[in-house]
Amino acid sequence: MSSWHFIKQFCSEPRTIGAIAPSSKKLANRMLQQIDFDRARVIVEYGPGTGVFTRQILSKINLDKTIFFGLELNEQMNRIACTHAPEISIFQDSASEVRKYLNHHGVEHADAIISGLPWAAFSEKLQDEILEETVAGLPEGGFFSTFAYLHGLILPSGIRFRSKLKQHFSEVKISPVVWGNIPPAIVYWCRK
Ligand SMILES: C[S@@+](CC[C@H](N)C(=O)[O-])C[C@H]1O[C@@H](n2cnc3c(N)ncnc32)[C@H](O)[C@@H]1O
Repeated sequence: MSSWHFIKQFCSEPRTIGAIAPSSKKLANRMLQQIDFDRARVIVEYGPGTGVFTRQILSKINLDKTIFFGLELNEQMNRIACTHAPEISIFQDSASEVRKYLNHHGVEHADAIISGLPWAAFSEKLQDEILEETVAGLPEGGFFSTFAYLHGLILPSGIRFRSKLKQHFSEVKISPVVWGNIPPAIVYWCRK
C-alpha cells in the first residue's frame, strides 16, 4: 500500500488511523525483539493496517504451531491487511473485543499482544477499555508491546498513556528511539 493511501485514510479518519505513514521495518523489529517465538503459542495483533508488523511476525512463526490473528477496526485498512496476510484471519472489529476472538479460537489467553494502535488519538475511556481487556487477555507474565511517537511523549495524552501502562503491567520497559521511523518512535515492552 502506498503512503498516499495511508494519508488518505488518515485524512478521512484521523482518530482511528493516528499516523500519516506506515511503520518502518526497524520499528517492527523493535516491537518484536523481546518475544520468544519458539514458545509463543498464541499471538494477537491490534491494528495491523498495512501489515508491516504482521509480515514480520509471520516470518518468525509456524502457523501449524501458533495461533495468530489480527483485529483491525477500519474497513479499508482491514481489506488491505487481509490482502497482505491472506494466511491468517484479520477480523474487522475493535481491539477491545480481544477476548471474544481468543474464545473463538478456543483459548483464554494470548502469550503476546502486539499493538499498532494510535493511543494518543484515543479518549481516556477507550484507552482504559482496551488496556483492561488486553490485561485480561494475557496470562501472568504475558507480553504486550506498543509504540509511541517521540513528539507525543511530552503531550498530556502521551504522559497519561505511559502512566496507565505502569498501572496495568508489572513491568514496562522503553526501547531506544527508532530514529529511522517516520516520525521517530519508541517501543513500550510490557509484562503482566
Ligand atoms: C497507526 S496505524 C498502524 C498500522 C500498522 N500497524 C503500522 O504500524 O504501520 C493504526 C491502525 O489501528 C487501527 N485501529 C484504530 N483503532 C482500532 C481499534 N479500536 N481496534 C483495532 N484497530 C484499530 C487503524 O485502523 C489503523 O489501521
